[in-house]
Amino acid sequence: MSPEEFRAYGHKLIDWLADLQARRHERPVQAQVKPGEIATLLPREPPEEAEPMAALLADLDRIVMPGVTEWQHKRFFGFFPANALPVGVLADLVSTGLGVIGLSWQSSPALTEIEEVVTGWFRQMVGLSENWSGVIGDTASTATLVALICARERATDYALARGGLQAATRPLTVYVSAHSHSSVDKGALLAGFGRESLRVVPCDGTYAMEAGALTGLIEADLAAGAKPCAVVATCGTTATTAIDPVAEIAAIARRYGLWLHVDAAMAGGAMILPECRPLWEGIEGADSLVINAHKWLGAPFDCSLYYVRDPEHLVRVMSTNPSFLQSSVDGQVRNLRDFGIPLGRRFRALKLWWAIREQGVEGLRRRLRRDMENARWLAAAVAAAEDWRVLTPVTLQTVCVRHAPPGLEGAALDHHTLAWVEAINRSGFAYLTPAQLDGRWMVRVSIGALATEREDVAALWEAMQRAASGAWTRIEDRP
Ligand SMILES: Cc1ncc(COP(=O)(O)O)c(C=O)c1O
Repeated sequence: MSPEEFRAYGHKLIDWLADLQARRHERPVQAQVKPGEIATLLPREPPEEAEPMAALLADLDRIVMPGVTEWQHKRFFGFFPANALPVGVLADLVSTGLGVIGLSWQSSPALTEIEEVVTGWFRQMVGLSENWSGVIGDTASTATLVALICARERATDYALARGGLQAATRPLTVYVSAHSHSSVDKGALLAGFGRESLRVVPCDGTYAMEAGALTGLIEADLAAGAKPCAVVATCGTTATTAIDPVAEIAAIARRYGLWLHVDAAMAGGAMILPECRPLWEGIEGADSLVINAHKWLGAPFDCSLYYVRDPEHLVRVMSTNPSFLQSSVDGQVRNLRDFGIPLGRRFRALKLWWAIREQGVEGLRRRLRRDMENARWLAAAVAAAEDWRVLTPVTLQTVCVRHAPPGLEGAALDHHTLAWVEAINRSGFAYLTPAQLDGRWMVRVSIGALATEREDVAALWEAMQRAASGAWTRIEDRP
């Protein structure tokens, strides 16, 4: 493709994306296709001969779009907000267009140094002290895996340089909560701790980890000859946005010499609001922390910030230094490959840098406050309605609800819940995620898409009431 062709198609694509920004709110939120339907539109064999670009672009509308669930839709209330600020989309285009890979400082000095500075900005934005060093990775899952590997190596005095976990004489134990994200279990298993050494700490009535129960489990493990190694606290659990008591857990971690990793993947972004910071009081006592800027804040996926208090330990665990990566300036620079698992590094800092500059920290704060206000509004409306319940405290922007008419219990209530949420999702009008709480289905309303305003939340609430009363079974029933 010549530079002129690239320019022409690039303009067309930007036009297409800009049009999509406007028209996506008219599209169904949940893709209306059946399993396998998109794949059947593609030939089974790759083309032997080049196809015209026009055909590729046309297939965006013909093949791709019918299979796109609209996370950026103003009535997307599923999972969590995964906002893609337009400025971040442009930054990602630049990042890919530059075609650089940060293997070392020298392989792309701007990539490294902008990442260093912007993780420093972000640290200040969420009110962390200068004792933290940050790096940008792909996901919270990877950050948590890295944290648990670092915990393992601190507890074993760098066993990876000797016999590794296989040579351990005492099993290392890890503590998570019943509401930790599945990536925490996965990280512990991948880091080699083994299911038998994973302790699930019970939660209190707000679904936050019970610090007292944590102490009990640690004591029991010590008595049984195990070596308590790490605890993962969550600031904003996935199902209900519950907040584990970080200060209490940090004190316990300190007393018993455990590594404390805080998974603030979703809620960490809220710490740009000074009024939210009491939620993670005690955070300075943690060893590591992950915040996904690619969720509520708006840097397009993927942009996950991992902070540690002891970067030397991280580097000692993660560094590799093959000759082909060495350079004459290594003593003066940071080589970010030593701060995580992958060698190659995308220029992710660019989209965060631009997002912060284009929005201003105050602009980001305004939007988050709007969303929290909308969540409180919805919670009040639900709480005031007959047969509806708000099930958990509305700490940030997630409202967990159930419609429980008299006489409906147990499996019948579950059936009712799944039926009304499915009716809304299938209609394409709005999108919600059901989840289990105490063994019963409920519905999470996760507010915070960029375009979601009060009127959209009000429209959703009307739809929920109609769906739960059975008046919403077909797409034509949309308001
Ligand atoms: C609390 C929490 N931790 C971890 C994750 C996983 O995030 P990622 O997709 O970045 O691995 C999520 C995502 O939903 C989350 O809510």
